[in-house]
Parts: sequence; C-alpha cells; structure tokens
Amino acid sequence: MEASFLRDQWYVAATSAEIAAKPLARTICNENLVLFRRADGRIAVLEDRCPHRQAPLSLGEVVGDDIQCGYHGVRFRGDGACTLIPSQTDLPIPRNFSVRAYAAEEIHGLAFVWIGDAAKADRSLIPDWSANTSPDFTTVHGYHYVRANYMLLVDNLLDLTHLTYVHKATLAAGPSGHIWLKDQDVTVEGEAVHTSRTVRGAEPSGLIRATRRFVSGQVDRFQTSDFYPPCFVRVTLGAEAAGEADAMKGPHHVVLNAATPETEATTHYFWSVPRAYALGEEAVSEIFYGVTKAAFDEDAAMIEAQQRTMATDPNGGKLVNFRGDLASQAARRIMDRKLREQAMKASVAAE
Ligand code: FES
Repeated sequence: MEASFLRDQWYVAATSAEIAAKPLARTICNENLVLFRRADGRIAVLEDRCPHRQAPLSLGEVVGDDIQCGYHGVRFRGDGACTLIPSQTDLPIPRNFSVRAYAAEEIHGLAFVWIGDAAKADRSLIPDWSANTSPDFTTVHGYHYVRANYMLLVDNLLDLTHLTYVHKATLAAGPSGHIWLKDQDVTVEGEAVHTSRTVRGAEPSGLIRATRRFVSGQVDRFQTSDFYPPCFVRVTLGAEAAGEADAMKGPHHVVLNAATPETEATTHYFWSVPRAYALGEEAVSEIFYGVTKAAFDEDAAMIEAQQRTMATDPNGGKLVNFRGDLASQAARRIMDRKLREQAMKASVAAE
C-alpha cells in the first residue's frame, strides 16, 4: 500500500483519562496536536504550535477555558481564537492571529479527533465503541505504542491464525487450535469487512479457562472480527462447553481496537476489553488486563520486527496472501480504493 493516511476521518487521539489539567501533546497522522480540558470539562484540540514564535503549546498550561503558551503567555481558546497577548494589551489582537482548531468529540471514554476539514466532521461517523462505558459490561483498557505502520496491526487483528504461534501461553487454544486455520467466513458490507469462525470441540485457551472457569474438557467457541476504516477493528469472542453450541450467543467478551497512525512507521494502539460476564469482579479484570497486555506485547514485538524487515527489503516489502489473509486483503483493498480517491480529489483540487 502506498504510504499515506485517510483524511476526513475520526481517529482516537487519547483516552478520556489522559486529558486532564496538563496539556497533552500527541501526533496523529503526522499532525502535531495539543489536547486539553477546558474549565467546563469539554475537551479541545489545537495544532501544537504557537503562531508567535512557534513554541509548542503543549509546553504551556490551561488557564480557565484557554491554553496559555509557555513562552510569552499568549492565550488561545478551544476554537483557536487568541484571547490575550500580554505584551500588548493596549492593542487589538491582530486579525487572523489564531491557531488551527480540530473537531473533537469525547465519547465511549475516548477522545476522537477529526483529521481533515473540521467543517465536514460528522459525529454520527464515530464507531460504536459504547461497550467501553456500558453498565452491561466490565471493561479493562490499555495502550501500546507500536513502532510499525498501523495497517500491519489491522492485518494482525483480522488474521487470528497467528494466535496459535504468537500467543502460545496466552490466547492460543492448544493443539486443536490449529483448526482456526480454516472455516472463516469473510463478507464485505459497504466499507466494512466482517469475518466469523465457529470452532467446535477445541481445547480452551488459558484465558478462557481462567475467566470462564472451565476446569477441563473441550469448548465450542465463536469469533467475529469487524473492520471499519480507517483503523478500527472489533473482535467478539465467546465460548461454551462443547455440545452447548446453542448457548454460544451468551457470555462473551469484546476486544475494541483503534490503531491510530502517529506516523507512517508508528502507531498509537488503543485497546479495551469489555466483558459481559463476571461483572465487577476485580480478580477477573486483573486476569483480562494481564493476559491481554502480555498478548499485545507479543503482537507488538512481532509487528515491529516485521516493520524492520520490510523496511530493509530491497524489493519494497511486498506481501503475499494466504487464505487466512482474506479479511485483511479485503480491508486493504477498501483502504487502497479510498486512498486513491482521496489522491485523485486532491490532484483535481490542486489544478
Ligand atoms: Fe508562544 Fe511567544 S511563542 S507566546
């Protein structure tokens, strides 16, 4: 895939908990942002650059509803307008002296930022990550900084045949887990890719054994993965004692993944695991957090190594597809098409 990012899209920029009294610097799609929380609790996202002498605004502080540059004290509102120039309060603020403001929405415990034309920001396009904050689920959250292109993470999440090999001690399902290599349905619906697998008579993974309290025996399990451009993947998993397949729509857990590009070669990976059982049980939450973090450490190590190998490939890091790559192939086709359309529109606009 040609290296670039989709614009006019929502990206997860931070968790709600990260945006506090201190400004937060974060680069998304190569754009340097500063995020802060106003006095009334609303979040604001500005370009992280003071137009006076180009100091990063993130080195300043929040004063009421404004952010104050840490260098000479100029203040800006959340909409980017300048409200104070301390050294010349006797003069009007120059017209057009402002900072670029980004459309931002705080929902599902996350801060989404619209990268592109703020006038086109449409809240209804934010993916439904509501399980994150729903009382019907208990959720653990995490973050990984991954030194690799975000589409390698999307590949990883859409091809779970790697569980058997990368996650031997955490998510793999034992010898019978090899059947994950087959029976995957892949469908494309508009710009979304859906995959599903049902596996019967498999050994439970360590995670399922520990959290669902299966002591022994085999399980039937299902897994669905859904990709939504530009970088969202929802994985839903469930298991029941073998032979109770009809109950498989019962207790399950979800893995919500946002692989936000920082640069072409680095990714902010926000993940959360809401579960619909053992609600509020701290011991189960600790298992989920510990196992998921360990598993995603394993993923990150593999993906970063993959990125390094691709970067040094004299043939340009070409990828080959197997049956297990059907879903990621479909996702990459959608992304390629959207990126081509974006490039075409940009070149028409430039003429
Ligand atoms: Fe920001 Fe001077 S560089 S106020």
